[in-house]
Amino acid sequence: MERIVSGMRSTGRLHLGHYLGVIQNWVELQHKYDSYFFVADWHALTTKYDNTKNLRQDVIDVVIDWLACGIDPVKSTIYVQSLIPEIAELNIYLSMVTPQNWVERDPTLKDMARILRTKEGANSQISYGLMGYPVLMSADIMMLNATAVPVGIDQVAHIEITRDIVRRFNNIYKTNFFNEPKPILNNCSLICGLDGNKMSKSYDNDIKISDTEEYTAKKIMTAITDRSRLRRDDLGHPDQCEVAFKYWQIFGDENQIETVKSECEKGIRGCADCKRQLGAAVNERLKDIREKRRYFEAHIDEVHKIIREGSEKTRLEARKVLNEVKDIIGMYSNRAYTE
Ligand code: TRP
Ligand code: SF4
Repeated sequence: MERIVSGMRSTGRLHLGHYLGVIQNWVELQHKYDSYFFVADWHALTTKYDNTKNLRQDVIDVVIDWLACGIDPVKSTIYVQSLIPEIAELNIYLSMVTPQNWVERDPTLKDMARILRTKEGANSQISYGLMGYPVLMSADIMMLNATAVPVGIDQVAHIEITRDIVRRFNNIYKTNFFNEPKPILNNCSLICGLDGNKMSKSYDNDIKISDTEEYTAKKIMTAITDRSRLRRDDLGHPDQCEVAFKYWQIFGDENQIETVKSECEKGIRGCADCKRQLGAAVNERLKDIREKRRYFEAHIDEVHKIIREGSEKTRLEARKVLNEVKDIIGMYSNRAYTE
């Protein structure tokens, strides 16, 4: 079976953007691939090294959300990046062969740096660790010598650097040991936030998997609609309804979407009612996931066990790759004497 690996930064409780954009894809792929999914807590530190009080809980929350969404620990291996020290060691080797200008031109990193610069204080510094972001990501992927990486479109630039690093490593050491991993994108269109911008917890325009039904319903009432529509009997334009109708297209069934569209166009559907129904549809879709989430919250020991076992299994695989890499490079090794 081909192997895939992917990770998510430990940003705490996940929202619908994570679920629809990434996790849903993982859930499908886990049946077809030897799948490894990890919480990238070192990557979280690249920008939040001075605010670590929630780090531990954030890691757990991410894993609980994955399990609730249907990542099956029997099919997939779930682990935490910082529990695999081999990744840090591989990162050292990769950092030697990576030209400085490759990381400097990483567009995603440039965006992150721009946002950081607008902040006040020590945290506006771009650290050495942050510059190494794409190299560390490459270490994550190459640590398991994966052939593919399922990610959101925003991560593709990083994966390009990984492919470059793989080629360079293979070239320098005259080997074909490392696979060139290809990104696997999902075909679902990106869900926007309730205000029409990118869904993000920092914009407070998100719906979290873990939000209550009441809170979800209330928040959906803030979704942007057709701005040209002032009264209930004004004729509506679903295609100009910036957020609410787009959500209907994701969460409604065919009949619902058709009804919403025609009633809106005829001016016999008010936006408030429309969004009330939308809230119910979203809650319905999340019902089972939320129930599963509550189960794991109440059985946190199971979650820790899943992480522990997944991390142990990953370390065994990582060890094999690292030994091979050290041999390929020609590092001194006393394995011959200790094994
Ligand atoms: N940078 C990714 C994100 O922000 C997380 C990540 C870290 C990752 N290492 C990875 C994703 C390796 C795929 C493969 O979401
Ligand atoms: Fe959008 Fe519904 Fe209002 Fe039409 S009725 S503009 S689809 S929120």
